[in-house]
Amino acid sequence: DNIDEKLINIDCLTYAGNSDNLKNYESNKHYTFYNNRIGDEKNVSQIFLNEKPRAIINFAAESHVDRSILGPEEFFKTNVMETLSLLTVSKNYVSNLEADKKNKFKFIHISTDEVFGSLSAQEQPFNENNQYKPNSPYAASKAASDHLVRSYFKTYGFPCIISHCSNNYGPYQYPEKLIPLMIINAINSIKLPIYGKGDQIRDWLHVSDHCEAIKTILEKGQVFETYNIGGSNEIKNIDIVKTICDELDALLPHPEGRSYSDFISFVSDRPGHDKRYAIDSTKIQEKLNWRPKISFKKGITDTIKWYLENSEWLHKIKNKNYDGWVNKNYNNR
Ligand code: DAU
Repeated sequence: DNIDEKLINIDCLTYAGNSDNLKNYESNKHYTFYNNRIGDEKNVSQIFLNEKPRAIINFAAESHVDRSILGPEEFFKTNVMETLSLLTVSKNYVSNLEADKKNKFKFIHISTDEVFGSLSAQEQPFNENNQYKPNSPYAASKAASDHLVRSYFKTYGFPCIISHCSNNYGPYQYPEKLIPLMIINAINSIKLPIYGKGDQIRDWLHVSDHCEAIKTILEKGQVFETYNIGGSNEIKNIDIVKTICDELDALLPHPEGRSYSDFISFVSDRPGHDKRYAIDSTKIQEKLNWRPKISFKKGITDTIKWYLENSEWLHKIKNKNYDGWVNKNYNNR
């Protein structure tokens, strides 16, 4: 939240982006926003020349698995080709820096645990040495971009770090991901579509803990290393949805006296659905002294309250071609 040095944000604000998310920073003298794509090499290169960043963090990505199943092309354009553009521009920029700045420079590439594929119930959580086995077009596009980043440090000595996080949740998350989608559907008395039996497991990481981890990597991370970041909160999807329903029953009793869990509906499974993700964060805990601070219990309650208190934000999203309400029953497509 506290910006104490210059922060440059380059974002083309696609469907999931929203300038309202950044409203609090608009008047901050340390913050500058540029409405550009990361693949816009000419403008991004000019921004770097003007702003002279000491580090670049690449958060930009198409990130929703369901959308990648319905249309993989956009994922490869953004996550692969535009990462290549960003790497090209960044490498040129760094090559012209003075030696001391060049030595301190870092390019941090934000990746995902999905590149490692799926775990069985018995397998150990993913560590940094797991083999890449992406299963969805989204995961394949992230794996491809990780490979590009790796090739830049192996071939050109470009100072990169890759981080792999588990499932994020928290405020401002676009309501197509499991947690915000279920909250929004429930308060609108719309069905809560659970894929398959809801017995898939994800490792939930509060977005603030993830941001703290990235800040830690920015300050203390070693270039040419990778770091896994997880919440150590493995929970089945069905249990997440039941928790949301129970919390809502207490916080906002349904107007017709029903339980929100009445809206739970089991629908056809996501094709290629990964069974389990779990992250072993030992490396970042031991080497950089980061650990998650927000318990899932507190994190989920605060998140539900945030969505209840920010109906205006949701209203604006709904007016911006929001299609998250669609029941993703793949048999019907
Ligand atoms: O692991 C990190 C990844 O987590 C990120 O790299 C991805 O960008 C992010 O989207 C997320 O991927 P998931 O596919 O795990 O997230 P999602 O919120 O789409 O789904 C979480 C689980 O809930 C998954 O097992 C599918 C299930 N699900 C999801 C939706 C949207 C349902 O059962 N019903 C739904 O309507």
